[in-house]
Amino acid sequence: METTLVLIKPGGVSRNLIGEICRRIELRGLELAALKLINADRAVVEEHYAEHKERPFFGSVCDYLVSGPVVALVVKGENSVKAIRAMMGATNPIEATPGTVRGDMALSIEDNLVHSSSDVEAAAREIGLWFPEGLAR
Ligand code: CMP
Repeated sequence: METTLVLIKPGGVSRNLIGEICRRIELRGLELAALKLINADRAVVEEHYAEHKERPFFGSVCDYLVSGPVVALVVKGENSVKAIRAMMGATNPIEATPGTVRGDMALSIEDNLVHSSSDVEAAAREIGLWFPEGLAR
């Protein structure tokens, strides 16, 4: 059993896509283990994206994540890291396959609706960062 982190970014929240994204996750047979709607701390966001610190988009992606409420959720299930990555689609929505969240609902890489952990190690780090209080189940 694996756990992974998903963030629904401000664009997804403002477009009222929380339900649609969670519906797809639950329909797949994965379980929500923690879920919250929050205005993220900039320090948390900068730590979250620390691996991108030297990239030119680091400042703008952090600005974007604190521009409005986000939903943070932990998804639990067999192979959940890979299953969620596949369901979310390619980082650049233009390359995302139809049927994926980004392939169906997004167009720009800056607002690609969701973040999901890249591997099991990243998931453990990100879950600890976003849910220091622990999981509901
Ligand atoms: P995410 O999976 O949250 O991880 C880093 C984010 O940076 C990425 O999704 C994009 O939303 C954003 N981003 C902006 N520009 C780029 C880029 N050129 N390459 C990769 N990610 C980018």
